[in-house]
Amino acid sequence: MKAIHVIAVGALAIVLSYLYVNYGGSQQPIKFPTDGYFGSGKKTPDDTSIKPFKINVPEEVLKDLKERIKRTRIGHKQLEDVPDFTYGMNLKTVMEFKNYWETKYDWRKAEAQLNNFPQYTTQIEGLKIHYIHAKPPANKYKVVIPLLIVHGWPGNVYEFYKIIPYLSDPNKHFDGAQSDMAFEVIAPSIPGYGWSEASHKAGFDQIATARIFKKLMNERLNFKRFLAQGGDWGSLVVSNLGRMYPEYLYGVHLNMAFVTNGKAMLYQILGSFFPTLLFKDKEFYDFSMKKMFFEILKESGYLHIQATKPDTVGIGLNDSPVGLMTYILEKFSTWTNPSFRNLPDGGLEKKFTKDELLTIVTIYWVNGNILSSQRYYREYFSNWEAQEFSKQYIHVPTGLASFPHDLGVRLPREVIQTGMNLTHFTLMKDGGHFAAFEMPKQLATDIIAFSTETVRIV
Ligand SMILES: *[C@@H]1O[C@H](CO)[C@@H](O)[C@H](O)[C@H]1NC(C)=O
Repeated sequence: MKAIHVIAVGALAIVLSYLYVNYGGSQQPIKFPTDGYFGSGKKTPDDTSIKPFKINVPEEVLKDLKERIKRTRIGHKQLEDVPDFTYGMNLKTVMEFKNYWETKYDWRKAEAQLNNFPQYTTQIEGLKIHYIHAKPPANKYKVVIPLLIVHGWPGNVYEFYKIIPYLSDPNKHFDGAQSDMAFEVIAPSIPGYGWSEASHKAGFDQIATARIFKKLMNERLNFKRFLAQGGDWGSLVVSNLGRMYPEYLYGVHLNMAFVTNGKAMLYQILGSFFPTLLFKDKEFYDFSMKKMFFEILKESGYLHIQATKPDTVGIGLNDSPVGLMTYILEKFSTWTNPSFRNLPDGGLEKKFTKDELLTIVTIYWVNGNILSSQRYYREYFSNWEAQEFSKQYIHVPTGLASFPHDLGVRLPREVIQTGMNLTHFTLMKDGGHFAAFEMPKQLATDIIAFSTETVRIV
């Protein structure tokens, strides 16, 4: 061994020990604020009433949207030798979606679909909270489990419109199913997304969101215990619920796992050198942190700007429908499958319809809240406590449906186990980041399996 190698290995060992000791993730509960206020001005008591809610976007807003789409100013030509999404969304595809949005897309149809589910609003910590509340048909199921499902960015509750029926009435939607268990589904809009009010104060992070959703489930809807499910930011929110309120949770089910503690880092570094020694699943025998690092670097520019200056990037997106659409749809391409960036149309319609994708975008447009959704990154990445908190071990039973094309590289169970009590782990065969939207049936199947194991044995 050359001296330089000895020094390198020694240095690595010191760095790893440092990470392990300092960022290992304490098993002691960290304190978190038990109350907050994010409304405008001075704190006033919440109006705790629950009000039925229907989406009804004013006609002027839709007319203005069409006019703005029509007047879109495009200042560039597609590079002649770039036929795909590798520079960002391909202009030809942008124009195709733009034209469809302007001439064929029917918001009222999407609105009716969403209004098929009962929706309500209530006020918590000064903010109007919007949520879907879908119950199983009366007396059809012996066991009804309250289930909170939480979306992420750049999505909203529309991502759930296909999965909710599988959960709230499985016997009707799964061929031949004869289950005696169904879910009472509560799907809130994160404040600053969809129809929930954006915070008026700085510091509205994923800990505050978890607390507000716990208040929704427990104080407004009177559930003593419930199950929580999420991907993307929703995954962090429901993971925080598991950390903060274990006594209220049967368990947590994720379709994306945040594992940022020191032990997980250590596993990933060592696992990149000795994967066959450390990882049981064959799929991870070529695990490489380097590959993961470069993939993240290539795709995370949006994250850095949203984590630092959301109010600068958000204003332009809120002023140009096609700008907003391009920013969001690029994510629905690459996050559904990273190889889609090499396709001329970004593979957007392989998994979703134009109508579905444009509904996600239109919800941001009509609520004018892309900027507040982007602030959610700043509130996490610029907040040391929020990041430390997400290293806390989750003790409640936790299930993960790991989709192969989710962001970055999928993590082996040994890495995930460092951060949570992983009692259920499924390596899904297909699917990406927007699992509920893309693979509703498969995700619902996994949530049902997890619930059967978790709630039934409690
Ligand atoms: C994981 O969950 C199970 C079931 O609730 C429990 O028995 C076990 O103690 C938990 N493990 C940890 C490490 O918290």
